[in-house]
Amino acid sequence: MDIELLQAQVGLWNLTYGYLKTMSLKCALDLGIPDAIFNNGQPMTLSQLHSVLSLPPSKKSHLYRLMRLLAHIGFFIEKNASACSEPVYDLTAQSRLVIEKNDSANMLPYVCCSLDDKWLKSSLYIGDWFMQDSKQNPFELANGCTLWEIVNREPVVKKKFNDAMVSSSCLFNDYIVRYGDDIFKGIESLVDVGGGKGAMAEVIANNFPHVRCTVLDLPHVVCDNPNDGIVKFVSGDMFNYVPPANAVLLKWILHDWSNEDCIRILRRCKDAIPSREAGGKVIVLEAVVGLTSPMISEEPQLLFDMLMLMVTEGEERDENVWKYLFTEAGFSSYKIVCTIGFSSIIEVYP
Ligand SMILES: C[S@@+](CC[C@H](N)C(=O)[O-])C[C@H]1O[C@@H](n2cnc3c(N)ncnc32)[C@H](O)[C@@H]1O
Repeated sequence: MDIELLQAQVGLWNLTYGYLKTMSLKCALDLGIPDAIFNNGQPMTLSQLHSVLSLPPSKKSHLYRLMRLLAHIGFFIEKNASACSEPVYDLTAQSRLVIEKNDSANMLPYVCCSLDDKWLKSSLYIGDWFMQDSKQNPFELANGCTLWEIVNREPVVKKKFNDAMVSSSCLFNDYIVRYGDDIFKGIESLVDVGGGKGAMAEVIANNFPHVRCTVLDLPHVVCDNPNDGIVKFVSGDMFNYVPPANAVLLKWILHDWSNEDCIRILRRCKDAIPSREAGGKVIVLEAVVGLTSPMISEEPQLLFDMLMLMVTEGEERDENVWKYLFTEAGFSSYKIVCTIGFSSIIEVYP
């Protein structure tokens, strides 16, 4: 048999069963394995792990198989694996990101939300969605309502989603602080449109006290947020009105919406800010497909694009499409300030 065909077959196996990597990750989180290793304070043998997790004796060898795969794909480190010694497991940078007690960079709520049944079920409907000329996205086909409707209606999903959004910001915060001197120079007021629970606005307010921060979000999101004096919460619909400010922040908003809706949102933002000469700008934090930071490939951008196809009307966009949207909404120019992981900070000027 041709070696190329064998390689193709292996590639196909990897693609076919790649979902088992995701499901093994979910299993590790369901069992609490990263927290168990973290709480132990040092690497754990298979026996220790098996005991701490209180799994049935019959599952010990199966736990080894789960850990072997997760170590292979870089989620854990496996040490001392030999015929005569027990394997020992330690955390990697990836698994440290889902430690419950990690206050500075905890992605656990985000990962758990993304691996919720409603999301997983939606992925099974992508093919059906392609074959139907329907306005409903795969999430709606699978769950009978949109993501926003379900978040609005079901308090448990709402909490899960809003906590996920807060945790998605944790790695951006450092960068906002690092580049903030330039970004917020001369800015006295900022509205974080669709700012959810205000995590990003709070970081800006705390690190750049000359910036008065307001969060605009839907009533059911804003009603839970305390007006603690650091950030002001305003309930409203960004398609109708954005409160006036020197700058508007749109973090992970536009990728949820169609081009037409993005233009409508951007026009409302433009109405809210002063001229460029007076310091007005919109700060967009989104992926620019094809533009990634060193060592980070385009693949997560493309995966996020499929996620957007599945749960929203939106998409991840390349620079040409961003330019089109900014121009159509009446902006004169833009600048990509920096790229963080697979997202970029774009300043857009009236
Ligand atoms: C993907 S989340 C992003 C949240 C936040 N910017 C972040 O990155 O953590 C989208 C946010 O937009 C809000 N949203 C959706 N439709 C809205 C509307 N019409 N007006 C204002 N906010 C809206 C949602 O409630 C949600 O908080």
